[in-house]
Amino acid sequence: MKEDFLKYQAQTSLHPLGIEISHAQGSYIYDVQGNAHLDFVAGVSACSLGHCHPAVVAAIQKQAQEYMHVMVYGEYIQSPATEYVKLLQQQLPANLEVTYLVNSGTEAMEGALKLARRYTGRSQIIAAHNAYHGNTMGSLSLMDYEERKAPFRPLIPDVRHIRFNKIDDIELITEKTACVVLETIQGGAGFILPKNDYLKKIGNRCKEVGALLILDEIQPGFGRTGKLFAFEHFDCEPDILVLGKGMASGLPVGAFIASKTIMDTLSDGPKMGHITTFGGNPVIAAASLATLKTLLQTTLIEDTLEKEKLFRDCLKHPKIKEIRGKGLMLALIMETPEIADQLVLEAKEKNLILFWLLFEKRAVRISPPLTISMDEIRKGCRVILDILDRI
Ligand SMILES: Cc1ncc(COP(=O)(O)O)c(C=O)c1O
Repeated sequence: MKEDFLKYQAQTSLHPLGIEISHAQGSYIYDVQGNAHLDFVAGVSACSLGHCHPAVVAAIQKQAQEYMHVMVYGEYIQSPATEYVKLLQQQLPANLEVTYLVNSGTEAMEGALKLARRYTGRSQIIAAHNAYHGNTMGSLSLMDYEERKAPFRPLIPDVRHIRFNKIDDIELITEKTACVVLETIQGGAGFILPKNDYLKKIGNRCKEVGALLILDEIQPGFGRTGKLFAFEHFDCEPDILVLGKGMASGLPVGAFIASKTIMDTLSDGPKMGHITTFGGNPVIAAASLATLKTLLQTTLIEDTLEKEKLFRDCLKHPKIKEIRGKGLMLALIMETPEIADQLVLEAKEKNLILFWLLFEKRAVRISPPLTISMDEIRKGCRVILDILDRI
C-alpha cells in the first residue's frame, strides 16, 4: 500500500508521516500493524468529537440511507442543512443571520472575500502578516509569505498587510478597504492570541471607514478554546464569520456567515454570485448538526479549559520554553526547530501523534479531540516528557 500511496497519490511533501490506517475510534488511530496511536492532533483540529463519535456516525448513516446529493446548493429544501443553519444562528450574535455552506475552509474564505468586495464595491483587502487562510488563489493571496506565493503569481491584486496585534497599523484601514481578514487566534504563526482589545479596535476602525471585518474561526471554532467561537472571548463581533474544520467532526466542510443584507448581494447582480455543487451536502450537514448538538448538550466546551490546565501542569520541562494558545489549541514552543522536529518524529515512534505548525518552526501542535480524557492527556504528556529528557 505504501508504494502505491507514494506512486499514485499526489504528495504534499517529500516526507509524509505515512502511518497506514486501519481504523480510528475516540482518541486513538489504529494502524494496520495493530498499533494504537494516541491522537493529540485530531486531523489538525478537525475531529472535534474524536474519531467516529457515535452520534456523528449515526447521523451520517441515517442520512445516507434517506438521500445524499440531490441538487446543487441553494435550490431544494433539505432539512439537515436548514435545521443546522437555524441552530447555528441561534448561537451567534444577531448580525450573523445567514449561513452559506461550502466544502472546505479555503472555499469559505473565497466566498467571504467575494462577498466583501461585492457588498462594499471596494477592492482592497487587508490581511495580517503570518496569517494562514487556506491554499486556493484568493486565500493564498492573503498570505505574506513570499516563498509560498512567488511560484503561483500573479495572485489577486490589492492585498495589503498589517502586523497582528500592532494597533499602529490601523491607519492602513481606510475608505478604500473592502475588508480586514484576521484569524481570531493566529494558527500557523504559533497560536498567537489577540491582545489589548486588538480585535475590538480593528472592528471599530472597520465600522468607521465602512469596511467589513472577516474573522477566520476555521481552527478555533466549535468549542476548541472554551467558547463555541473564539471571538466570544474578545468582545468583538465580525461582519463575516468563516468556519470549517471541526464543524462536522471529520467530514469536509466550510461556511461563511453574515447579515441578510450583506449576504443577499451574492444572490442578485449577478444572480448566483457564488455557487457550489456540493455545499450544504445533506450527509455532511447531518454530521454538522450532530456535532453542534453534542457540543451544546455536553460540557465538552467548558471542559477544554480544565484540559488546557492539565496540559500546562503536566508539560513543565526545561526544553519547553513556552506554551501558547488557549483551550485545546496549544503550541509547545521549543528552543529550536530541530528539537520540535525530533519530538514530533520520536513521538510517532512511541505511538503518540503530534504535528508541526506552518510558519512557527519551533512549535509542536497539540490540538486533540475535545473528547480526550484526562487520563489520555496524562499518558501522552508522559511520552512527551520522556522524549524531551532523552533529547
Ligand atoms: C485558520 C485557517 N484558515 C483556513 C484554513 C483552510 O482550511 P481548509 O484546509 O479546509 O481549506 C485552515 C486550515 O488549516 C486554517 O487553519
